[in-house]
Amino acid sequence: MRIVLVGPPGAGKGTQAQFIASHLSIPKISTGDIFRANVSSGTELGRRAKAYMDRGDLVPDEITIAMVRDRLAAEDARDGFLLDGFPRNVPQAETLKKILAEWDARLDIVLELVVDEDEVVRRLSGRRTCSRCGRIWHVDFDEKQDDICDDCGGELFQRDDDREEVVRHRLEVYQQQTAPLVQFYADEGVLVGIDATGPIEEVTNRALAALRPLQ
Ligand code: AP5
Ligand code: ZN
Repeated sequence: MRIVLVGPPGAGKGTQAQFIASHLSIPKISTGDIFRANVSSGTELGRRAKAYMDRGDLVPDEITIAMVRDRLAAEDARDGFLLDGFPRNVPQAETLKKILAEWDARLDIVLELVVDEDEVVRRLSGRRTCSRCGRIWHVDFDEKQDDICDDCGGELFQRDDDREEVVRHRLEVYQQQTAPLVQFYADEGVLVGIDATGPIEEVTNRALAALRPLQ
């Protein structure tokens, strides 16, 4: 199955992507994670992306699209994938459509995680990520007493772009550039909206219920 997750920063795309992709045994392709891995290992790609990410702006399309094209060409993505954080604007969505058409493929479904702005600010301000396994935690909702991952013992860190003024800018960028994708995919007939409020497992169950008719 070929799936895209769309939704504002902090909607829970990364959180849901890890559960849905492992449930379906398909690779989770998160452009944010790939960029962050490149920044921390100091590659040329990471060096080019970092300034945009620190400001909360989108990395230019030519950099992002080349990276995604390479990743989608990998063997493990041939029969299905879950994209988290891509596409992020209409030109990226049009390019993705062309890339898939080259392989006689198309998206099966686009899941929109629907959640209001107050909730995403609350979620992002308490987010912590494991530096070893990548698992996403929340200081309040997961009742974290320390900065250690309960899964692997790795140290948790706060993302640089989760500072309040950057979060506010990321939300503006979402409204201006990414929100139009909802109409784009509604017109394509593949959009399904999911209520992304409430406990994480309940959101996962709503997402899996939306996917079931396609399996
Ligand atoms: P990216 O990493 O994609 O960031 P984002 O879209 O802003 O999304 P987030 O990762 O902040 O949020 P999320 O929806 O994944 O939420 P999460 O599951 O973590 O992109 C970062 C940057 O990279 C961009 O700004 C840009 O510069 C660049 N970039 C990436 N892709 C690009 C592209 N295609 N083009 C150009 N540039 C690109 O959850 C948030 C918190 O809430 C966590 O603490 C979690 O534990 C908690 N939580 C989740 N669900 C629930 C729930 N149901 N109840 C309570 N808490 C919950
Ligand atoms: Zn961990």
